[in-house]
Amino acid sequence: MDKTSFIIITVDGPAGAGKGTLAARLAQIYSLDFLDTGLLYRAVALKMLESGEDFNDKEAALRAVLLLNSDDLINPSLRNEAIGSGASIIAVFPEVRSALLAFQRNFASNPSPGKQGVILDGRDIGLVILPEAPCKIFVTASPEVRAERRLKELHQKKIYSTFELILEDMEERDTRDRMRKISPLRPAKDAFILDTTGLNLQDVVEKASFFVDSIYPQAHKNQ
Ligand code: CDP
Repeated sequence: MDKTSFIIITVDGPAGAGKGTLAARLAQIYSLDFLDTGLLYRAVALKMLESGEDFNDKEAALRAVLLLNSDDLINPSLRNEAIGSGASIIAVFPEVRSALLAFQRNFASNPSPGKQGVILDGRDIGLVILPEAPCKIFVTASPEVRAERRLKELHQKKIYSTFELILEDMEERDTRDRMRKISPLRPAKDAFILDTTGLNLQDVVEKASFFVDSIYPQAHKNQ
């Protein structure tokens, strides 16, 4: 595939900023293969929970990584908030991160036939996994807006929680993600920072597409 026409988009940002929704929309518009890398960390956490392991046990986390296969990424329980928190605990282990790195890079360099490229969303995609990606987006929003969005999402899935509980959990997870020594959450220098506070999905997609078009003016688009 021609390197200049092969699209690589990274989308990073904190919990509930709308990375997944934006990445899924961009994947559809630009015909890209999409990997939500948070699912990898969540799948490790779920495996540990199922076998009664402690999320702080590094050896157990590494064992769970080695057992991962692609079927593990489609389990609906991965979206539970407890799994999100567990994922952020095991995500601090450098050994776990490096064991998952090859899978992510391999995904990025092998798009399915007919796709124009790839889009990956997570925390460290632009900085660590694909630092050479030409198109990096960092999505953010105020903690209150992010907690409100997550609450709505959970209510739609008939999962009960409160704004206060979600906000507290999100701030705890953000701190862990931002303060960890390895691959802390922060934007790459050349990332487009997209603050989605006060924007609806259509505005967010429009701004992001404008940026993608500036990097890949020849891209074919589905509307
Ligand atoms: O959907 P949400 O933003 O709430 O979380 P997620 O993207 O599914 O990620 C769950 C957790 O996995 C995050 O809080 C991070 O600690 C970790 N993660 C990571 O460290 N690196 C990634 N590339 C993706 C997720």
